[in-house]
Amino acid sequence: MTATDHEFHHLPVMVHEIGALFGPVPAGFVLDATLGGGGHAEHLLDRWEHLSILGIDRDERALAAAQQRLARFGDRVRVYHTRFDGLHDAMDAMHIDQLSGALFDLGVSSPQLDVADRGFSYRNDAPLDMRMDQSQAWSASDVVNGYPADQLARVLQQYGDERFAKRIANAIVAARPIERTAQLAEIVVSAIPAAARRTGGHPAKRTFQAIRIEVNGELDALPAALDAAIDRTTPGARIAVLSYHSGEDRIVKETFREADTGGCECPPELPCVCDAVQTVRLVRGVPRTPSPAEQAGNRRAASARLRVVERIADSPTRGRR
Ligand SMILES: C[S@@+](CC[C@H](N)C(=O)[O-])C[C@H]1O[C@@H](n2cnc3c(N)ncnc32)[C@H](O)[C@@H]1O
Repeated sequence: MTATDHEFHHLPVMVHEIGALFGPVPAGFVLDATLGGGGHAEHLLDRWEHLSILGIDRDERALAAAQQRLARFGDRVRVYHTRFDGLHDAMDAMHIDQLSGALFDLGVSSPQLDVADRGFSYRNDAPLDMRMDQSQAWSASDVVNGYPADQLARVLQQYGDERFAKRIANAIVAARPIERTAQLAEIVVSAIPAAARRTGGHPAKRTFQAIRIEVNGELDALPAALDAAIDRTTPGARIAVLSYHSGEDRIVKETFREADTGGCECPPELPCVCDAVQTVRLVRGVPRTPSPAEQAGNRRAASARLRVVERIADSPTRGRR
């Protein structure tokens, strides 16, 4: 095993369910919008000969590892470095006009959390970094040392569902400058009442997740990327999204519902008069979750939610009532 393979050891979540979903799609390129180490992509390429992969990721280390892993598939694989809302650029650069599907496996990869110098984890001491894209100027240090207490508390509450957001934010501001992850983890632990520290995993987990989401603007790019994916897929194509946080899942659910109803708000008991256009159908209304066995074997799968839509030819919602 090379150093790169080792660094990018990541267990793909719900890989067999996701593989099965892409069996019926038309032949062509499936966009893997979060290529990571290439685990899902490899499974799709092995299982379905009619599919090729356009893989994008904002993390160049991930792209390098995936390219190495997927080299045996030759020209069935193309990779491009961009945020996923840049998918039009990736498709144009690779001369791909329409997609047979798209997969978004949101959040961080195991190596981003596990490689100490990336500064994502409260378990490893490292400079406060947390950038998925190393060419980005803005890092965790800017958030931790630069945000006023109320803004920091909002981030912790919104992206970490942190009950003690205000206390933690005040403790962070009082302890500045904070340079390292271990220092931040210690400040968070001491800001949380002793009784609450004993439940719900490591006390710094929610704070680190919230700061990571803020640094990488993880929710900002998602609505535009999903709309673009729907726009560039061919009828019969499927779009699948794995999310790991309630804020992400809410965006996915709303974007898919909007595409399914065409944004129609006419009263359900009356015919639609707003000329709304439906572009997808929900493959299942409720999100799927990993099996108990997968959740037990892969702690990162525990919070996963899978939502799927199928692209249809644009059709007026009028006919559905
Ligand atoms: C959970 S991992 C994907 C793992 C992959 N499915 C596999 O099987 O190896 C998520 C990946 O998405 C990338 N990522 C997160 N947000 C992104 C965005 N807005 N644009 C592009 N890539 C993103 C991260 O850098 C990370 O490599």
